[in-house]
Amino acid sequence: MSHLPDWIAPHGGELIDRIATPEQKQEFLSKADFLPRVQLDERAVSDLEMIAIGAFSPLTGFMEQADYESVVANMRLANNLVWSVPITLPVTEEVASTLKEGDLVRLDNPTGQFIGVLQLTQKYQYDKNREAINVYRTDDSKHPGVKVVYNQGPINLAGPIWLLQRDPHPLFPKYQIDPAESRRLFKEHGWRTVVGFQTRNPIHRAHEYIQKCALETVDALFLHPLVGATKDDDIPADVRMRCYEVLLERYFPKDRVILAINPAAMRYAGPREAIFHAMVRKNYGCTHFIVGRDHAGVGDYYGTYDAQHIFDEFEPSELGIVPMKFEHAFYCTVTQGMATTKTSPSTPEQRIHLSGTKVREMLRRGELPPPQFSRPEVAAELARAMHQ
Ligand code: ADX
Repeated sequence: MSHLPDWIAPHGGELIDRIATPEQKQEFLSKADFLPRVQLDERAVSDLEMIAIGAFSPLTGFMEQADYESVVANMRLANNLVWSVPITLPVTEEVASTLKEGDLVRLDNPTGQFIGVLQLTQKYQYDKNREAINVYRTDDSKHPGVKVVYNQGPINLAGPIWLLQRDPHPLFPKYQIDPAESRRLFKEHGWRTVVGFQTRNPIHRAHEYIQKCALETVDALFLHPLVGATKDDDIPADVRMRCYEVLLERYFPKDRVILAINPAAMRYAGPREAIFHAMVRKNYGCTHFIVGRDHAGVGDYYGTYDAQHIFDEFEPSELGIVPMKFEHAFYCTVTQGMATTKTSPSTPEQRIHLSGTKVREMLRRGELPPPQFSRPEVAAELARAMHQ
């Protein structure tokens, strides 16, 4: 059996585990009624989980000010390690005023269930406008990521966390494969190179094409759809997962692909989120990561290939995962196959590419997207979901 190469060590060198031990859990439960409380929103719950399972290694908690400022300004933690997106726990002034540094804070989910603990080491104010401009490259409050920043509280709570326990995912328990487990699986299969694929959309043929192009050169594909919070008009995660199931059944080899959920929330930060997505997949054990057109983008905020160019700002050794960059893929009616401008002789009119918005409109009218855009099984699944 081969071993994963050393350079696919987790980001920062060590896979973080912040799930409370049974003893810690008992201790936290015995204190539960006496601790000050903070109620988390859906994104904070995701972040808490991601930290606890090591997907955000080397983070052990929500960022202190030095890390936060350094990430916003330079895309690096205070110790210089590459990190492009702030992971913070913002609260209102009222909530912050009930807490003092040094407190153990009980973290509840949106329904009031006790799910984690924060050891509060710092609370600090931050500049929302600066965060928006630097991280999202815009201060337009219509940008879904910026909107979240503007609507959140003005004080960040920081410090190490514990997740009380790791529960199976309520919708996709079978696909909950945490970083320690994915690393174990990759090793067990003897895969030396694994490419990670991020997505928040139903799979279409351009996705399939770039996944398979990548798979031609590496040992395996880690399909890792994001199932945390997305914006309201994105297709719900359960529909997307069903699309993957029907697709994998017919169109992919069984022994080279692993489908797993990425429990993170979407930030729509385009280029900065592409780096972040790559670091997360590195923690899951991937050696390569796919970055296509307008990765993690929204609207017209980012240039088509900005999320690829940003990788050039770092030394390959400090990223520790190889970006696989793909041009905009489409169906070429001349060669009758999927292609990009790198491989197709077509003129723009000879290409079939549909936007997500166009596909949604078609589905609403009761039309199925054509087989050049979507596999029929996936189209049928989308149509079914649309008319439920
Ligand atoms: S994202 O927000 O998660 O990036 P999406 O699920 O649409 O959105 O994209 C998943 C990945 O596929 C990203 O790397 C994206 O750049 C890439 N991608 C999506 N559509 C295309 C396309 N037509 N051609 C090339 N790459 C694409």
